[in-house]
Amino acid sequence: MCGIVGYVGNRPSLEVLIGGLRRLEYRGYDSAGVAVIDPTGTLVTHKRAGKLHVLIDDLASSPIADGVTGIGHTRWATHGGPTDRNAHPHLGDDGKLALIHNGIIENFSVLKEELLAEGYEFRSETDTEVAAVLLGREYRAAGDLTVAFRTVVDRLHGAFTLLAVHQDQPGVVVGARRNSPLVIGLGDGENFLGSDVAAFVEHTRRAVAIGQDQIVTIRPDSIEVTDFFGNPVETEPFDVSWDAAAAEKGGWSSFMAKEISEEPDAIANTLRGRIVDGAVELTELEPLAGVLADVDRVLLLACGTASYAGMLGKYAIEKWAGIPADVELSHEFRYRDPVIGPRTLVVSISQSGETMDTLMAVKYAQERGAATLSICNTQGATIARESDAALYTHAGPEVAVASTKAFVAQVAALYLFGLHLGALRGHLSAAELATNLAELQAVPDKLAIVLRSGPEIRELARNMTDTRSVLFLGRHVGYPIALEGALKLKELAYIHAEGFAAGELKHGPIALIEPGQRVFVVVPSPRQGGVLHPKVVSNIQEIRARGAHVIAIAEKGDVAVLPFADDVLRIPLAAPLFEPLLAVAPLQIFAMELAAAKGLDVDQPRNLAKSVTVE
Ligand code: F6R
Repeated sequence: MCGIVGYVGNRPSLEVLIGGLRRLEYRGYDSAGVAVIDPTGTLVTHKRAGKLHVLIDDLASSPIADGVTGIGHTRWATHGGPTDRNAHPHLGDDGKLALIHNGIIENFSVLKEELLAEGYEFRSETDTEVAAVLLGREYRAAGDLTVAFRTVVDRLHGAFTLLAVHQDQPGVVVGARRNSPLVIGLGDGENFLGSDVAAFVEHTRRAVAIGQDQIVTIRPDSIEVTDFFGNPVETEPFDVSWDAAAAEKGGWSSFMAKEISEEPDAIANTLRGRIVDGAVELTELEPLAGVLADVDRVLLLACGTASYAGMLGKYAIEKWAGIPADVELSHEFRYRDPVIGPRTLVVSISQSGETMDTLMAVKYAQERGAATLSICNTQGATIARESDAALYTHAGPEVAVASTKAFVAQVAALYLFGLHLGALRGHLSAAELATNLAELQAVPDKLAIVLRSGPEIRELARNMTDTRSVLFLGRHVGYPIALEGALKLKELAYIHAEGFAAGELKHGPIALIEPGQRVFVVVPSPRQGGVLHPKVVSNIQEIRARGAHVIAIAEKGDVAVLPFADDVLRIPLAAPLFEPLLAVAPLQIFAMELAAAKGLDVDQPRNLAKSVTVE
């Protein structure tokens, strides 16, 4: 939450900052602001409530002086509403210092009392301004921003990435991070800082991830990273594997539409190079080699959409590896006393790799002795770095706030992992492994076929703009898809939606059915023994008898659903565990099209931010 960008170099910084904020806007869009040190050595700031375009329009009509050093921020409000006043940057040292922040400073009220008692004044209700004023005070004592930062971070509790500039130190941007992300972009005669590499990828693809509790000072020709005590830290640059074009809309009506279209590639790229001679090759898992041979339980931790990928991972791991697997919402796991055995492997799933709830849950599990694997889509992200091993999904940058291509890539990675574990533990025969790998490799082409039904689904969505409630039913691997379909509809179209396990229907939810109630049903395959198919068809009959309008997502050729469904969306034939990878796209498209038909912003739904970096 909150996007942060910093620049120091040789070109007008505003252009770089605004470009970076455009790419980071998915992290929060309650307000945006910039601060630059102009050529006369004066700090100039401008900030506005609302989406980034409000700030951009303002800067176009009333330009501010530019310079070659600056910081920019796009906010997801926590402390203090989304107003101009609460927008970042916040000022310290009588307006000579500007500071931006991502995270929450938990002890801000104590610090504010201390500063108020010393006569300092505050203009906003934010926790961030307290850090700015404190930094200003320490700057006056130290005369150096980096040194002042060292004192300040020692006083702050909570999660933060802070970036600051001071007009008396032009050509310098200083940042600090604890539990929130920060990455350096290495340029030629210029350097960048960003919440993630999207902030600067159009200028450089060479990056350095800043570690936990570190301070970074960038100048045009140097970067310096230390721990909070000033001890130098060695940095390890990496190359960003995607380019700026990957984070552009490229002619699509929305990032979400583009990202759904990229799902086949997201899966293919996640599998690429990892299936060799009929075996799964995951060299990234080497640090866990000893653990994997001995593991007796897998615990999957994630939030939101990623947790539904985790549910599918559970079914796959149990089936293919014969190991008990459980999925927990990260935030529920952390604040109780979970029992972690010595042979438990914790697998976290996070697109951003920065979700605070998941990061904290991983750390909590580590404190209890668990080995940890991160399934992550963002290179150098905190969760991946903090885990014993990282299995990256290669979905490319996901910009739309609602996760789509990252979800299918997460499932593909979990399936690879499940098959790897099954083979390693001798639970899967060579023939079973080969069959499942072939099924997995066939998914991208089948998914491309599903995506062709876009127009049909758009039509369906356009006829449902006045719908106030939609239910989703699924069973076995269809259940997580029902949950995901409901989540997508809630977050994008602001329609009440609930996902249920179809078997649960008669235990309560069927009371919701009244004439005209729209219900999506993910129908399992009737083939391969299909014991679940007749049960779900019975469920459809039960709700239909009570007046429900049923939209079935069913395998091609499944005629059993026809008499009972009002609409049928078809998916190609696949083995049961692979069906969800095909069934999810129609629900994503439906939510997107319904939101678009209601005139809503599908890329930036209200109240949300892509990386939830606060608890
Ligand atoms: C929903 C969505 C969220 C995320 C969740 C976890 O469309 O995107 O539910 O899945 O916030 O995010 P990551 O995967 O970044 O940890």
